Amino acid sequence: MNVSSEATKSLWALDASLPTAPRLEQNEKCDVAVIGAGIAGISVAYELALAGRKVVLVDRGPLLGGMTSRTTAHLAPICDDGLSALVEMRGEALARGFQTSQRAAIDRIEQHVASLEIDCDFRRLEGFLFPAAWMDEKEAARRCNEEYAAAAKTGVEVERGKGVPLKGHESAPVLRYPGQATFHPLKYLRALLADFKKRGGKAFADSAVVEIKEGKQIRLKCDSGSTITALNAVFATNSPINTWVKIHSKMAPYRTYAMAFEIAGGILPDALYWDMDDPYYYVRLSRGSGKTDCLIAGGRDHRSGETDDGEARFAALEAWIRALVPNLGGERARWSGQVLETIDYCGFIGRSPGNGNVFIATGDSGQGMTHGALAGRLIRDLIVDGSNPWEAVYAPDRTPPAAFTHYINENLTTVKNLAGYLLPGQMKSARDLKPGEGGVLQDGLSKLAVCRDRAGKLHRRSATCTHLGCIVHWNSTEQCWDCPCHGSQFAPDGTVLNGPATRSLVQPKS
Ligand SMILES: Cc1cc2nc3c(=O)[nH]c(=O)nc-3n(C[C@H](O)[C@H](O)[C@H](O)COP(=O)(O)OP(=O)(O)OC[C@H]3O[C@@H](n4cnc5c(N)ncnc54)[C@H](O)[C@@H]3O)c2cc1C
Ligand code: FES
Repeated sequence: MNVSSEATKSLWALDASLPTAPRLEQNEKCDVAVIGAGIAGISVAYELALAGRKVVLVDRGPLLGGMTSRTTAHLAPICDDGLSALVEMRGEALARGFQTSQRAAIDRIEQHVASLEIDCDFRRLEGFLFPAAWMDEKEAARRCNEEYAAAAKTGVEVERGKGVPLKGHESAPVLRYPGQATFHPLKYLRALLADFKKRGGKAFADSAVVEIKEGKQIRLKCDSGSTITALNAVFATNSPINTWVKIHSKMAPYRTYAMAFEIAGGILPDALYWDMDDPYYYVRLSRGSGKTDCLIAGGRDHRSGETDDGEARFAALEAWIRALVPNLGGERARWSGQVLETIDYCGFIGRSPGNGNVFIATGDSGQGMTHGALAGRLIRDLIVDGSNPWEAVYAPDRTPPAAFTHYINENLTTVKNLAGYLLPGQMKSARDLKPGEGGVLQDGLSKLAVCRDRAGKLHRRSATCTHLGCIVHWNSTEQCWDCPCHGSQFAPDGTVLNGPATRSLVQPKS
């Protein structure tokens, strides 16, 4: 089984194996079923096991094989869309609640690292906001002032500074945020999983949930035919598979790119650096075993499916980081993944709209590590105690009036895709497809998703996404079909890799 659903491999996946678990072959009964074993699902399952609940955790693929294995692992509580934008969108009180809860999520990770003595390179460090490449000093100073003022309103500790050790920015206006952190996500979560199992928790891999019956008890059916019956269910599937429209119309999938390079120790101080661009670029270090560390650079995001130019994006990312850090060594890894951007910058964590005993954790944006750890506490509190101090910040049923423009814009892209204005470039024939290539082919009134996998095998499936009917786009970097509407992904043979879809692309009749 692949380490992840996609073709590239992240730095973490290169140096840590994924935990193994059996397939679910028998029926299970429990207090809480947690669907999805990424950071959100494992954190929720673990917090509930600590509270004495009987928990069954189940994943479609390998445990930890989803977006969690593709993260760049900064633990930054600062809203990654900017604090001033957050205050404008949610108001001061809720923005403050967001910041406090994100900090609490890092504290919680730190507590687990200490109590379980997890060797996962967890460390506190500083974060620096520095100017985008195109900004002059006046614009950078204006942005610093704006963010500085918003930090005061939201209780975020910050200092004005001058310069970061990145070429061209040595004397630029910057902001310094103490209290950030980073870690090795897979090492941390493997340890949580091990303790979860010691406490009686059960975990199953390669078992996709394909049917959900809600009621006083929830009945989940897996692709093996086995069922899980639970008093509560938590959908931590990155993109929820239990709601069809309500949540998905309030967030949009974006693809983001990352690269890791060798760097000699001491060249760049260990800190998080991100710029003022939108979407932003970032730089951080991952500790190596000897004299070399790894530098991770990321950015170049775009709406999923909008383009298929991953290689050009990696080239631009590499050019950007080599200009800032001229002594950079050779490349260690390159990979991409998907994040879900919500209309108001905060995740959806809590009761699934219209349900008392079904919960979701989604809308992670670029802060899925802290959102995931936070989901552990928030959903545990809702199930065990009935409430949590931050439930209004993350309430899945909210649609803040200030987010209306984002709501319209993101859904316009979806509607255009459904109506056919934004369809991927269509091929005339599949005959000339080389290994690794794919595209959409008109076949009478229907559209076919046709690709030749890297082994040379030709696959033909309906191009209609089985979630709500948008047309999928070929992603040659990750060798999969991306749905631009709500982020479903499918393997070359049409198998689901990522929700919200739960059914494979349909096999055409002829
Ligand atoms: C390149 C990149 C860099 C990033 N950098 C950062 C960062 O520095 N800091 C940060 O905070 N965040 C970052 N993020 C975001 C973060 O990695 C993700 O938001 C987070 O890992 C999502 O975790 P999750 O548990 O919600 O989802 P996942 O890890 O994707 O887990 C969901 C799981 O659900 C399973 N599943 C889906 N459908 C079913 C089904 N039907 N039945 C059973 N199981 C199912 C999947 O197989 C998967 O294992 C980054 C993301 C990317 C792609
Ligand atoms: S993910 Fe919703 S239509 Fe494809």
